[in-house]
Amino acid sequence: SSDHLRHVESMAQLPSGAGKISHLNAVILGETLASEENDLVFPSQDFSRQALVSSPEQYRKMYERSIQDPAGFWSEIASQFYWKEKWDPEVYNENIDVRKGTVKFEWFKGASTNISYNALDRNIEAGNGGKVAIYWEGNEPGDDEQLTYAELLEKVCQLANYLKHVGVRKGAAVVIYLPMLMELLISMLACARIGAVHSVVFAGFSAESLAQRIIDCKPKVVITCNAVRRGPKAIHLKDIVDSAINESVKSGVPVGLCLTFENQSAMKREDTKWQEGRDVWWQDVVPQFPTKCAVEWVDAEDPLFLLYTSGSTGKPKGVLHTTGGYMVYTATTFKYAFDHKPSDIYWCTADCGWITGHSYVTYGPLLNGATVVVFEGAPNYPNSGRCWDIVDKYKVTLFYTAPTLVRSLMREGDEYVTRYHRKSLRVLGSVGEPINPSAWRWFYNVVGDSRCPISDTWWQTETGGFMITPLPGAWPQKPGSATFPFFGVQPVIVDEKGNEIEGECSGYLCIKKSWPGAFRTLYGDHERYQTTYFKPFAGYYFTGDGCSRDKDGYFWLTGRVDDVINVSGHRIGTAEVESALVSHPHCAEAAVVGVEHEIKGQSIYAFVSLVEGVSYSEGIRKSLILAVRNQIGAFAAPDKIHWAPALPKTRSGKIMRRILRKIASGQLDELGDTSTLADPNVVDQLIALSDC
Ligand code: PRX
Repeated sequence: SSDHLRHVESMAQLPSGAGKISHLNAVILGETLASEENDLVFPSQDFSRQALVSSPEQYRKMYERSIQDPAGFWSEIASQFYWKEKWDPEVYNENIDVRKGTVKFEWFKGASTNISYNALDRNIEAGNGGKVAIYWEGNEPGDDEQLTYAELLEKVCQLANYLKHVGVRKGAAVVIYLPMLMELLISMLACARIGAVHSVVFAGFSAESLAQRIIDCKPKVVITCNAVRRGPKAIHLKDIVDSAINESVKSGVPVGLCLTFENQSAMKREDTKWQEGRDVWWQDVVPQFPTKCAVEWVDAEDPLFLLYTSGSTGKPKGVLHTTGGYMVYTATTFKYAFDHKPSDIYWCTADCGWITGHSYVTYGPLLNGATVVVFEGAPNYPNSGRCWDIVDKYKVTLFYTAPTLVRSLMREGDEYVTRYHRKSLRVLGSVGEPINPSAWRWFYNVVGDSRCPISDTWWQTETGGFMITPLPGAWPQKPGSATFPFFGVQPVIVDEKGNEIEGECSGYLCIKKSWPGAFRTLYGDHERYQTTYFKPFAGYYFTGDGCSRDKDGYFWLTGRVDDVINVSGHRIGTAEVESALVSHPHCAEAAVVGVEHEIKGQSIYAFVSLVEGVSYSEGIRKSLILAVRNQIGAFAAPDKIHWAPALPKTRSGKIMRRILRKIASGQLDELGDTSTLADPNVVDQLIALSDC
């Protein structure tokens, strides 16, 4: 129809110019799209018509306003929340340029608010107390529960009162080591309600990793559960917590209280190891506390949480997010990137142990009064159709996941998907790593029946919320591109010397100005914050990612350019894996690189030299892998141990990872110049051992 044509034409007004739409006719005629990378995929007219942002012009207007008048733009949005006191008079201030002194971002300074109040009480006061806040789906199909906003608030208040009772005060740290139970969200919101700083540790981390985090942030309380079932396996989390606390006691950081939720479907309390005086059953104490709890009003810049993440060197870093800016930013990004409406049912498959779970399971959705599905289990249990079974069961409209899951389900075949209706789905989302165009297409065509736009959201633990993301009704998408910046975000691509490059180009992705959701520091180490993120390209925040921009202005993320690898969307520092390997008594030296992996995106490939007199064996290989599992967690276990009599080093002793990466990925004809090596023969030895 001519209406449809106008719609497509308006869509064709891309930010950097129109008239470059190669498949316009195919789209108008409803033909399947051809398979070139630069195809444009248009949102349907029906979708755009109802969308919060429905055209490139509308996006451009809002974006320009957010850049020209950040204070006006963000304060208008912030006014939709409840503030006990308003910021006054400045909305924000920043110094992003390390050459001009200490790097500092502040938003809504001087205002006081509470994020838990804004997520719960505010929505209840608006008449949504009876709306379902959480649909909880257990590991076993048929095992489910739900909480309305009013019920969730009561549970949060009871725990908040208990925490206050045991002496947790504003500013105190609480470590949470829980799987995807409702109690995980309740714990986060209870901490926030009383101004305590939560630090959620992904329940796949080992005892040593948990101990390291406990020692760093010294919590008064650790909240956990006795065990969890994931797929067919039961994992005894309490045992892991016990060893972590024992370890931290040895380092002079005692933990006086371990609040343990009895997860009955996984383990009975009689079977749980217990330390009297320190361990307390959640069910024995929390329900006895009042269901109302006064809010602790905190400054917008008071810390909300700490989340440890991997860097290219050293120990995991405690990324610190504060309250006001994070609240405004996660809520706004959620609303626009998923085109959220009050009737939506939203499911994000991420775990609250990672930033995605913080911003887009808990805070962003609940601040919008959304109904959220929380899933305890594994996406392929009892079979590969589980996700779509859940989608149909709850009539999920917004489904947000990681490319690694898309690829693994894609491998299982379409039948697992097509046997379910999936008619409720409206918007799909992707996060954690670049999504390759073929996985994008499968997600779009098979899962979404060529009907649902995909929000490929690029962001990081540090950024708090989406930075480059489609707004699903606003413009045509290109499979594999995260498209354009979110409101208020100014991404730039710089060359090696830190010069901004314009137009169609590739380089390092940096951000030019502060945004409300940005992290404020690394806990206890502002110097490392500046050195890691603000010194590599002075004047900018450096993301660690490579990026290119095409002729239409679309951004394409190409992966990390530092020694961080991304395995199944899990961020892992090569240095951490190396340090776990060399802790093995037989390991002399280790070098770890990431190699491309069909399902996981990247996998861990380790070159290992053993100490003199020890020879390589299957037993040693297994025990090296065990060392990594014990020190970090199973998700960081190397897929390959490559025996290395020696590692390729420069004359000054630096390991040449570039060469190792080529050997690991079998690109032997691209080794490049090896003449600068102290001993070029090392390379031949390594190649000869490739298949051992
Ligand atoms: O390399 C980018 C990749 O994940 C990194 C951030 O990891 P983390 O802090 O664990 O946060 C993951 C969830 C936000 C980034 O530096 N990444 C994340 N999302 C995308 C992505 N790469 C490409 N496209 C994405 N959509």
